[in-house]
Amino acid sequence: MNISFKGLSEFNLLARNYTDAKFLESENWPKSSELMKVCEFDKSYFPFPWSADSWKDTQISSKNYLLSTFSDRSEALKAFCLWKISLEEELLHLLKVVVCPGMRGMGLGETLLEGVVGMTGNIGIKRFYLEVEEGNRSAIRLYEKMGFHKLHLAKNFYGNSRNAFKMLKSLK
Ligand SMILES: CC(C)(COP(=O)(O)OP(=O)(O)OC[C@H]1O[C@@H](n2cnc3c(N)ncnc32)[C@H](O)[C@@H]1OP(=O)(O)O)[C@@H](O)C(=O)NCCC(=O)NCCS
Repeated sequence: MNISFKGLSEFNLLARNYTDAKFLESENWPKSSELMKVCEFDKSYFPFPWSADSWKDTQISSKNYLLSTFSDRSEALKAFCLWKISLEEELLHLLKVVVCPGMRGMGLGETLLEGVVGMTGNIGIKRFYLEVEEGNRSAIRLYEKMGFHKLHLAKNFYGNSRNAFKMLKSLK
């Protein structure tokens, strides 16, 4: 497969009712069928997947979310990241980032996230926040490379003695 991950034209950035976000290529949140593809991908590859109902809820309050997806030339979903937007707090909260196993370590996760971080500065977002499971070394390395730092360890954040680091990145 010969895919370049450089350049935002590769991405399908979706949001709705977010009129200041001029960078967004589509104003339409995914239709149910498309959203269910993301839901299935989430279920297959993300450690803490959402239910189909939780995904459907994003359609109702889609102005609160930012979804960035990457699909290959045959339109098969290969990666996505989902953020919650809080304009009042000038904050984006990373809810999910996942790359299909066969395409990990190729820079796709970093490029997806940096694409969003790089553009949302234009619309007043100043901070980026996330939680990550204590033992998820690849994700923690990725976030630290991007300039996130650990705030603290939240015990039992994911239940059953599964702890999470809370991490923050502030724009200079
Ligand atoms: C975490 C995840 C999104 C990373 O995506 P990716 O496309 O493989 O990551 P990238 O190729 O963009 O890597 C960027 C940086 O992350 C770090 N990294 C990524 N994978 C790593 C690994 N296996 N070991 C160590 N560091 C790693 C490196 O610093 C890397 O930069 P470098 O290649 O210059 O060293 C991917 O592993 C994934 O989907 N995991 C399952 C879902 C998940 O756990 N999501 C995070 C939950 S909070």
